Amino acid sequence: MKVAFFDSGIGGLSVLHHAMKILPNEEFIFYADEDNVPYGTKTQEQVLEYVAEAFKFLVAQDVGAIVVACNTATSAAVRAMREKYSLPIVGMEPAIKRALDLFPARKVLVTATEITITGEKLQALIDRLNAREFAELRALSELVEFAERMEFNSAAVENYLREEFSAYDFSEFSSVVLGCTHFNYFKDTMRKILPAHIKFLDGNEGTLNQLIRLAGLVKSEKSLATNHQPLITYYYSGRKVTSTKELTRLKKYLQRLDEMYLI
Ligand code: DGL
Repeated sequence: MKVAFFDSGIGGLSVLHHAMKILPNEEFIFYADEDNVPYGTKTQEQVLEYVAEAFKFLVAQDVGAIVVACNTATSAAVRAMREKYSLPIVGMEPAIKRALDLFPARKVLVTATEITITGEKLQALIDRLNAREFAELRALSELVEFAERMEFNSAAVENYLREEFSAYDFSEFSSVVLGCTHFNYFKDTMRKILPAHIKFLDGNEGTLNQLIRLAGLVKSEKSLATNHQPLITYYYSGRKVTSTKELTRLKKYLQRLDEMYLI
């Protein structure tokens, strides 16, 4: 089946990267809305417009399912897209439930973009999990622009994260939830700053399990051994990516994700 992965930018590659490992026999489209990234600091209405535009394009590519590999777009627009289209649409959810299942009664720092942090969807999730006293929320919107510039462990990134994290006593926390798909690129820098017991949790596995369920796909356990690469076509805001320069850029991000995978 042809499955589309959509993000404001290159963050969604972290979900695609995981999908390449467990669904190597599917065909993928990756759509980064590079003309409009970042989404996280825009208004909900603007993000909804961008997402509607991207969906029009993706549905016309005859895909069997769309993964909104972006927490911000999920928060602002997934409900509207599900009302409009009947194909399976899978969104992202910050992995708070997983954090609390794994480490009950320890606090979790939920990091995401401004829109996700202030959005109703996250507040509803926290209420549903009864997690008010365990979940602290922090917008790290600037990481999105660092990631788009391929700046992952510079002094500026490190200083920014040190400053943002200085507000917390991490001995009370079990984990940091990466509630923005752009944040996976910074796991080594975060590892360097935070105490060793802090775990990093993202929503990639949960999202892909949901895709597998809704689209009737089958996980391939063999993929890790055979190293088979699925067919992927890349688009930037509806324009097919064909230049060697841009394809090399995308490959570098995927290589970075390989390095971050086990952290
Ligand atoms: N990657 C997106 C997310 O997961 C958002 C990045 C942006 O601000 O555009 O939230």
